[in-house]
Amino acid sequence: MKNTVLTFQQAKEKGEKLTMLTAYDYSTARLLDEAGVNSILVGDSLGNVMLGYDDTIPVTMEDMIHHGAAVARGAENALVVIDMPFMSYQTSVYDAVVNAGRLMKEGHAGAVKLEGGQEVCPQIQAIVAAGIPVCAHLGLTPQSIHAFGGYRVQGKTEAAAKKLIEDAKAVEEAGAFAVVLECVPKKLADLITKNLQIPTIGIGAGAGCDGQVLVYQDMLGMFSDFTPKFVKRYAEIGEAMKKAFREYIEEVGSGAFPAAEHEYKIEDDVIEKLY
Ligand code: KIV
Repeated sequence: MKNTVLTFQQAKEKGEKLTMLTAYDYSTARLLDEAGVNSILVGDSLGNVMLGYDDTIPVTMEDMIHHGAAVARGAENALVVIDMPFMSYQTSVYDAVVNAGRLMKEGHAGAVKLEGGQEVCPQIQAIVAAGIPVCAHLGLTPQSIHAFGGYRVQGKTEAAAKKLIEDAKAVEEAGAFAVVLECVPKKLADLITKNLQIPTIGIGAGAGCDGQVLVYQDMLGMFSDFTPKFVKRYAEIGEAMKKAFREYIEEVGSGAFPAAEHEYKIEDDVIEKLY
């Protein structure tokens, strides 16, 4: 069944958990879609896991459109949410609407995601008014990593926790259909989830959120530069890939691959004429 923003709202009302995972290419999107995930996030985390940057700052609109369109081609039922990259919406409401529009028209998104609270509410309102669903993102917002001074849990002081609660209310009032809560203490995420009509999607925010999201390379053990505490490894695909790569290297070296069953045939009388 096709997942839409209505699926998100209905899940919140019925108390059913929502599932979201990242993808950045067609084949992974197909696998996720066939597995039945509600939503695929084309995260700007692609800067880290696909492009090898230290953070998400260098990611461009062209990167997001290129990867987003590939994911959209592989997602039949999952709602495809594409991240708005750094400086594609912070600069002005006009830029935000134009760039969100590009992610829909060229990236074939079903919704866009952007980071921030009250300071980006004019952008959220304008994008939603243009008919584009917006998912908000609060807590540890990686595009502000230099302002935070590193990757750390957010909302731990009374003032920071109050600000997060206010930001969550503000993005809901601005029209966001969901909000990602990243690296937020569980009890604070629970309180925010209880206070909102829209679903919260947690990553490092505990089990009380209305849904969960993870970067797929993290949960499959395919990315070892940095593994946050909140990641659960559901498989060791990275090790399995390395094992297969090593076997291939050995077999090509020894001549065991390709074997007869991998070869194409030609009639002997044709080949004999060529000698
Ligand atoms: O870019 C991303 O993958 C994200 C998730 C971590 C929520 O924003």
